[in-house]
Amino acid sequence: MSVRGQFSSKLGFVLAAAGSAVGLGNIWGFPTQVASNGGAAFVLVYLILTFLLAYPILMAELVIGRYSQSNMVNALQGISQGPVSKLSGKLSGYWALTVVCLILSFYSIVAGWMLAYALASITDLLGLEQTSLWLTAFSTPRNLIFCFIFSLLTVGIVHKGVSDGIEKWSARLMPLLLILLISLIIFVATLDGAALGWEVYVIPDFAKILHSDLLISALGQAFFSLSLGVGTMLIYGSYVSKKENIVTLGAQVTLVDIGIAILAGMLIIPAMYVAQHNGVTIFTEAGELINGDRLIFTVIPELFTAMGDLGNVISFVFFSLMAIAAVTSSISMLEVPVAYTVENSSQPRSRVTWLIGAIIVLISTSIVFNFELLFGAVISFTTQYSQPLLGLVLSLFAGWVWRRDSILSELKLGCPEIEHSLFWKIWPSYVRFVCPVIILVMFYHSVFN
Ligand code: PFF
Repeated sequence: MSVRGQFSSKLGFVLAAAGSAVGLGNIWGFPTQVASNGGAAFVLVYLILTFLLAYPILMAELVIGRYSQSNMVNALQGISQGPVSKLSGKLSGYWALTVVCLILSFYSIVAGWMLAYALASITDLLGLEQTSLWLTAFSTPRNLIFCFIFSLLTVGIVHKGVSDGIEKWSARLMPLLLILLISLIIFVATLDGAALGWEVYVIPDFAKILHSDLLISALGQAFFSLSLGVGTMLIYGSYVSKKENIVTLGAQVTLVDIGIAILAGMLIIPAMYVAQHNGVTIFTEAGELINGDRLIFTVIPELFTAMGDLGNVISFVFFSLMAIAAVTSSISMLEVPVAYTVENSSQPRSRVTWLIGAIIVLISTSIVFNFELLFGAVISFTTQYSQPLLGLVLSLFAGWVWRRDSILSELKLGCPEIEHSLFWKIWPSYVRFVCPVIILVMFYHSVFN
């Protein structure tokens, strides 16, 4: 049995877990959902769902992880008493493992596109027009090559382990991401047309607020954005020292995730309206926003292209920002099956990482070859259905299966004063009763509407 990895500091954990949370979901998913779902109205619902549902479930994942000091399959069995709950824990753990591998397989394809577009900005600068055209045109070879390169980056970091790989790279890349994001926001804000984007972003269209699509999209977004349900936060929780106040750490991760999503909105939504100002169509005839892929891969690049050489530099920064956000998330996903296999076999971490990386590339390859059929289906199976349902499973395990006294003593480790907090008084009953009901109601609504 190998020695378990651990984050070397509080900040290391926050950066790694926030790195997992902050990804394409924040920089691409959130702003495009805001733009198509009533602007600030969506932001409001998203914030409410994040605080009322996603944060409590994130805490369940982190606390179960730290208590069990293991992966989700073993952890859910470990906190169960009877054979039925042990079996359900095991099956749910395997379901989570499958889902996280599937998420990683489509995520690597999309992240590969970001790398290809970043490279295209350089080849454009160098006057290599044909190469840029190839890099930005949708094709199976391009999708495969860049998915492969992105997967190599992910495997390269994860095989180094928790503190030397994941923590070190998250700590380097997250500040860089913030700097790039803020610079781009300032730049785009100075362009003509940006003001209208800011208006849409801050003035809510309340007519859309109770629309079921909006609620479900906000729920999915909240779960995806905090990397919930699939064991990522659970395994990261297991690498947190027992001396730390895990409740505060969880809150910090949630705040960073929300903060970056909101910042990304300040970039993408004004950028859309700048593009519109320059004559690019961003709404269909029915008044709906064009789909998110077209927005990121057509509208935004067109906006940059119109600026000449400077545009290429900005475009390089933009797509590198996306790729950085993606890699700090993909390493957290790969860590889930890697940790599971390392903890349940005698194989060395490095070999396991390369092997699982190869399996995920094979799944990505089948998606690339059957793109029309599989890409959308895998995304909805994993993010729309599985993540909320696995969130439900976690809240049931934390609320009903796990012995209450042992949850409470785990929460208290590292912060005995928590006994006087509101969190202590509310959270245990809240995950037990309220979280499952909210998820079930919303899920029912989404499936039967
Ligand atoms: N939270 C990531 C994002 O917003 O892009 C996506 C993600 C990461 C989902 C890790 C699931 C996961 F386990």
